[in-house]
Amino acid sequence: MALSDLRGPAWSYSRGDTPMTEPSIEPILRLDGLSKQYPTKSGPLAVLHSTSLTMDVTEMVSIVCPSGCGKSTLLHIVGGLVQPTDGRVLLDGVEVSEPGAERGMVFQAYTLSPWLTVRRNVQFGPKQRGAKKAERERLADYFLDAVGLHGFRDHYPKQLSGGMRQRVAIARALANAPRILLMDEPFGALDAQTRTVMQELLLDIRRKERTTTLFITHDIDEAVFLSDRIFVMTARPGRLKAEIAVPFGPDRDPALRTSPEFFRIRAHVYELLHSEGQAVVDAEMAAGRKA
Ligand SMILES: Nc1ncnc2c1ncn2[C@@H]1O[C@H](COP(=O)(O)OP(=O)(O)OP(=O)(O)O)[C@@H](O)[C@H]1O
Ligand SMILES: [Mg+2]
Repeated sequence: MALSDLRGPAWSYSRGDTPMTEPSIEPILRLDGLSKQYPTKSGPLAVLHSTSLTMDVTEMVSIVCPSGCGKSTLLHIVGGLVQPTDGRVLLDGVEVSEPGAERGMVFQAYTLSPWLTVRRNVQFGPKQRGAKKAERERLADYFLDAVGLHGFRDHYPKQLSGGMRQRVAIARALANAPRILLMDEPFGALDAQTRTVMQELLLDIRRKERTTTLFITHDIDEAVFLSDRIFVMTARPGRLKAEIAVPFGPDRDPALRTSPEFFRIRAHVYELLHSEGQAVVDAEMAAGRKA
């Protein structure tokens, strides 16, 4: 069964039929001069500074930066959970001002409803949109199968491992037929082995569903293995410092991780990130000395 067979009136968005190799004319996502300051007791804290980027349909773009540089803030602004101080977010040319089902969010912390079974967790979004029971069952069956958890559909989240819970979270986000997936260190809490499996699963889902994903990670290997482009942000206030193209296409084999080209890109990203990480440590140590 193809994803298009699942689309019914309940699907408010469709991904269109753009093949992965064909660049779209209009960007799906446009971040236009985003800045964010949080009010604090000691005055405004500048977290994000004049950040602009565009993404095409089916692209996988990662953002890496040192801890606290504002990457979650950036993703939350795109998700409509946080309002920018300046700038705007356009999804398919329409300004984003609040959360919406067309932006599927997956966070590091497991965000499933513990009182709902796996199946009902995945059905949650479609139910909110008024999908009929049969349609909801079809969606849950399809996406739980896609993440290899069909056999666990009547389990509760507490009965699953961390990796399994994140697979349910991905299925839950996909069941809303999002235009874009927003993932904030989704595999950050997983052990290295499970993390690798999850990365391969994400590539597989991308190939099948032609997903578009904005991905936040601090893991350089993960960014290189998954992305078409990587943006390195500066230390806080975060702004985009460099854009690195990752020319491996959507069909990636695990063996890619040991290829010379992979090492070359990884070293380049590491170099860019290292100086920013050093800036954070220097600032923290200077603040510590003053105290
Ligand atoms: N609601 C808030 N009010 C005040 N300051 C905030 C708020 N949310 C975040 N911050 C501050 O903004 C900065 C950036 O936070 P953010 O969570 O975006 O960083 P991050 O890059 O995702 O960090 P990490 O790598 O640790 O996840 C931090 O210094 C944080 O303390
Ligand atoms: Mg964060």
